[in-house]
Amino acid sequence: MADISRRKDDHLDLATSGDVGFKQTTTLFEQVRLVHDALPELSVSELDTSLELMGKRLRAPILIAGMTGGSDRAERINKELAQIAEERGYAFGLGSQRAMHKHPGKSATYAVRDVAPTALLLGNLGMVQAAQMSNDEIKRLVDAVGADALCVHLNPAMELVQDEGDRDFRGGLATFERLLGLGLRVVVKETGCGLSGHVAERVRAVGVEYVDVSGAGGTSWVAVETQRASAERRPLGEAFWEWGIPTAASVALCAPHAFRGIFATGGISSGLDIAKAIALGASAGGIARKALQALETGGQAGALTFFDRIETELRAAMLLTGSRNLKALAKAPRLIGGELAQWLKLG
Ligand SMILES: Cc1cc2nc3c(=O)[nH]c(=O)nc-3n(C[C@H](O)[C@H](O)[C@H](O)COP(=O)(O)O)c2cc1C
Repeated sequence: MADISRRKDDHLDLATSGDVGFKQTTTLFEQVRLVHDALPELSVSELDTSLELMGKRLRAPILIAGMTGGSDRAERINKELAQIAEERGYAFGLGSQRAMHKHPGKSATYAVRDVAPTALLLGNLGMVQAAQMSNDEIKRLVDAVGADALCVHLNPAMELVQDEGDRDFRGGLATFERLLGLGLRVVVKETGCGLSGHVAERVRAVGVEYVDVSGAGGTSWVAVETQRASAERRPLGEAFWEWGIPTAASVALCAPHAFRGIFATGGISSGLDIAKAIALGASAGGIARKALQALETGGQAGALTFFDRIETELRAAMLLTGSRNLKALAKAPRLIGGELAQWLKLG
């Protein structure tokens, strides 16, 4: 039990203050230009940032992406961020519920419904773990936290670098089909390496309606695991530190596949990034490490200030593109340059 808690706390320490960003790879949002509208005929007060997702109304297109659970520190972080999600009308994701599956005594570290009774709440499990669990076990995990949907994360790159990581990634599509058959809402999620158009097409073909691209350009989970790896595995991590599909590219590659919802997570650091993600086809932007850092350096007040800035920037982008609401923003004219244009040619 100590092992899993220690790993979770290592992750939190590294994400808060470690060297775990991509070094050269960016999200490529800098290669999206939204076209300025000098005559928007709008007032800031009439901008509508709300949207309907999974039967719930979000006040703003923001997801505090899944990070943690399984330790005392994780419990505090989950509660504090979930409370913000509830107050602000954002979606909130829990970290992998594997610790709670292995050690039911850890369940309280994932319990946020007391502070976030109505927020859109996403549970979380690794695909490899879900593949090995029974239907009842999975349903129990989702029900225990009161989640509206289950994120099933795909993270083969970080697992390969982790000494104790998984090595067999077969059975993903069959697992998604099985979970959908149970009536669960499934979000197929990466953890920082992005989803390609080919992956999007295959998961959509088995009925998956939601994805979280969690693309490259923000937190590199290969980097996190490289910091924790043994001397023998470190070179593998160094070689793959920059691996992944940039978030902007991944959103645009998933967009044509008719998902009901696309979360754009991975390196989102401003409301302008979220506006660009929506213009590329996302429903909402997801933020993990920057939200954690804001909370851990400034407490809940610091996190609220961080999200105020994100919302102000999003509203500015809406006004300056003449977009009264998110549907209009999704159609805002945009220019795509450089490497991002190359990625889009992949389809
Ligand atoms: C401390 C921390 C723990 C995380 N744990 C999980 C997890 O358990 N399950 C998961 O799907 N993603 C996990 N992630 C990945 C994030 O949800 C997100 O996909 C990734 O960090 C990219 O977003 P970012 O650049 O905003 O950090 C974690 C991220 C952080 C920072």
